[in-house]
Amino acid sequence: MRPCDPSSSDRRRAAPSVIGPALLAAVLVLAPGWTAAGDAALGERIYREGRLASGEPLQARLRQGLALAGPKAACATCHRRSGFGSSEGTTPIRPITGRYLFRDAQAAEPRLGRDPGPSRGLRPAYTDASLARALREGLDAAGRPLGGMMPRYALGDADLGHLAAYLRTLSAAPDPGVTATTLHLATVVDAAADPGRRQAMLEILEAYFRDRNAGTRLEAERARRAPWDMAREYKAYRKWQLHVWTLEGAPETWGAQLEAHYRAQPVFAMLSGIGAGTWQPVHDFCERTALPCLFPHVDRPPQAPGQYALYLSRGLELEAEALAVHLARSGVQGPVVQVYRDETAEAALALRRALAAAGLPAPQGRALAPGAVPDAGFWRALGQPAALVLWLRPADLAALAALDPPPGGLYLSARLADLAALPAPLAAHAALVYPWELPQRLAPRLRRLHAWLGLKGIAPRDGPVQADTFFAVTQAGMAIPHLVDDYSRDYFIETIEHGLDNALAPSSYPRPGLAPGQRHASKGSYIVKANGTHNHLEPLGDWIVPDTALPGGGK
Ligand code: HEC
Repeated sequence: MRPCDPSSSDRRRAAPSVIGPALLAAVLVLAPGWTAAGDAALGERIYREGRLASGEPLQARLRQGLALAGPKAACATCHRRSGFGSSEGTTPIRPITGRYLFRDAQAAEPRLGRDPGPSRGLRPAYTDASLARALREGLDAAGRPLGGMMPRYALGDADLGHLAAYLRTLSAAPDPGVTATTLHLATVVDAAADPGRRQAMLEILEAYFRDRNAGTRLEAERARRAPWDMAREYKAYRKWQLHVWTLEGAPETWGAQLEAHYRAQPVFAMLSGIGAGTWQPVHDFCERTALPCLFPHVDRPPQAPGQYALYLSRGLELEAEALAVHLARSGVQGPVVQVYRDETAEAALALRRALAAAGLPAPQGRALAPGAVPDAGFWRALGQPAALVLWLRPADLAALAALDPPPGGLYLSARLADLAALPAPLAAHAALVYPWELPQRLAPRLRRLHAWLGLKGIAPRDGPVQADTFFAVTQAGMAIPHLVDDYSRDYFIETIEHGLDNALAPSSYPRPGLAPGQRHASKGSYIVKANGTHNHLEPLGDWIVPDTALPGGGK
């Protein structure tokens, strides 16, 4: 059924709510000069969710006849939330923000000028009436047929009016944090975070910003003398300014602290950041403020994907699920015991859930009381379980390291029990849940970063902080020029999602990637043996991706 084809009367009866007589009449009487009066908030719902003002799902058909409804038909599915479209596949999906649609000066727009689409030249500005024709009949503002991927819509006048009103506001103004000369960016530090890691992050951010701004001075000179057709791109350059927001005290007070920082100086995005425990209040602030927050160093990020907060990994819970898969695959026989503290209770719970999903018996759990450090007696009392899983940091492992021989079937989290800080007997003995790329593979990929560190006079450090900070900041550095001077946070996020697969700077994780809607880039973990060295780890089996290995992802 073509929604706007009056000849398909037999099918119309089958779907009376889609093509009612009122809508047909509206299609037929629409005058060329018609301008819609609409409600942009209702238009946003159609655009993003595919829900009409009535609450009914939006209905559409592809040229090939395939029907789409609701979220699948929503404009954002193809033109993206920002409205700037995308360059996936062979047909470019064109920008449809008001600024592009309702203007004809495409030659002056570098984004369109470079990329007019296959066999499509310039077109005049859209009017509400020609927009209605594009959506219902698939003809562009010049009357030429639109490409096959653009669906035909069954939309009444009122909904069209809402949609047009929304498109006029969509990405119409730069998002906060951008001035004529400066792009303001923040990083967030939990005051309780390890000072060495904090410094490792900050020195990379500061050096990158210095580098970038040295380049911007040249760009400013080019902008002054730019040929007319490049002027917009050169004028898009901004000096980057870093704001370090330190969060003190109880996490319940962080939301207010972040808001005060943001009121004093709005920023366009948050880059990296370093946590010590929960990150939830920062996550909530990012989502509430529609602020892109890229790849902080956190062990326990929120698990449910938001829209604006991007993470390298789901952290300990993902690693617990990977361990359950490993235990199931290695045919563990007998009891699994896990020891944890408050801060790692979520990991213990995730292991319990994932073991159940893998069809294994429930593990026994031992929660350590705050302040209590386990002694030799504690460890001996655990006996010899088939697997002893410790969600603990090195300070809790001293007495265990002194046991001779150490217990068999011992599993530690590399994220918590940093290999470099691990007592030697344990480093030689234990298996580690290791979410990063193996050091022997990572080292060659980090050569470029290490050369850059050398030029900046920064000493290389152990651990993932340097690589992951550099990753976060170079992702932003690559995405910003794509915005030209459309400083849209949604477009920024979309550009990063799109570019992650072929990122030039590696993170410490093997294969980060973000399909639309995904907000955690790395999907798995290794289980490794250290054998007493941390330059070469022996993987016990393949990289484990719990989402594909466990029924229901183990959640
Ligand atoms: C399934 C993917 C898809 C969906 C969903 C979709 N579009 Fe499109 N749209 C496209 C493609 C692809 C093009 C480019 C066609 C071409 O260049 O010939 C396009 C082009 C357009 C154009 C023409 C732009 C121009 O410069 O001439 C408009 C207007 C448009 N879409 C509006 C919308 C609106 C509004 C919605 C939601 C009601 C929507 N589209 C949903 C894929 C989609």
